[in-house]
Amino acid sequence: MRAIASAPGKVILFGEHAVVFGHPAVAACIDQRTRVEVDVVGSRFTVNGHRLHERYHSYIKTAVDRLWKGDPVRIQTEGGIPSASGTGSSAALTTATVAALHRLQGITDNARLAQDAFMVERVTQGGGSPIDTSVSTAGGAIAIAGKEAPPNVGDPLWDITWEDRAWSVESLAMPGLTVVVGNSGVKGKTDVEVAKVAHNAARNPLVRDTLQDIGSIARDAVPALRTGDWETVGRLMSKQHDCMHMIGVNHPEVQKLVVAVRDAPGTLGAKITGAGGGGSMVAITDNPARAAAVIEAAGGRAFIVRLGGGGATLHAP
Ligand code: MEV
Repeated sequence: MRAIASAPGKVILFGEHAVVFGHPAVAACIDQRTRVEVDVVGSRFTVNGHRLHERYHSYIKTAVDRLWKGDPVRIQTEGGIPSASGTGSSAALTTATVAALHRLQGITDNARLAQDAFMVERVTQGGGSPIDTSVSTAGGAIAIAGKEAPPNVGDPLWDITWEDRAWSVESLAMPGLTVVVGNSGVKGKTDVEVAKVAHNAARNPLVRDTLQDIGSIARDAVPALRTGDWETVGRLMSKQHDCMHMIGVNHPEVQKLVVAVRDAPGTLGAKITGAGGGGSMVAITDNPARAAAVIEAAGGRAFIVRLGGGGATLHAP
């Protein structure tokens, strides 16, 4: 028995961190994917030829422990999404792994995939929202917010619950968009950044207000995203970046890239993307090649990325 699935990475355009608290956010998937092949072999659990190990394969281990009751499986992974870069490598790996394990059990429901992939990420990581795993499942672009005040901007996809929290996820139709992602090369740790923001928010009303502002910026950005008003999108991205900087989820190496690219001709806006503490920034620009060159000259690794495309996909074994 064998199943093969792949799932994309993502870029968060608006609302990271705020979404953990139920404020609105928007993410789109990128054209970099992780592919996972699962074979039921009956001897021992392995990943890429090594014994399945909690430390080296934490997301896969959680997925197998929680979602697989059958004989041992041999898992092969393949993909080019840089880890800890803010572009959703762990969500892509988790979503593809869960999709393959589901397939082996005859489950093909995307709402269940999104819920289980979030459960695996949350258990492994200890915090966060379903934004990454939901966009990796759905593909295209999504809007997400706490269930008590859903985004109301597109077709409802699913609700995701965790303990006493619930988020509503909707698809967001927007015209094609190419962005430039600049990876600082500094590995950011999502769990550390999420815990830091939660700690600060619990103690400091200014942090709570700023998270609310980030959510309002995401809500304001939706009409501009839907109509392709990229100047407004860019302005709001830069505004959100400044909020993120204020609550300390930036990193000097990422800031260097943001500052450099903001001054480049054609740039409409730029912000840190993902959890921060390192990782990547994203720029919206009339001149992607120029922005990419500026990012590389400032010490980053640039990727020109087309947003959208397919979500979790099963492949013929
Ligand atoms: C990480 O890609 C996005 C965060 O908002 C955490 C989360 O929502 O899971 C920082």
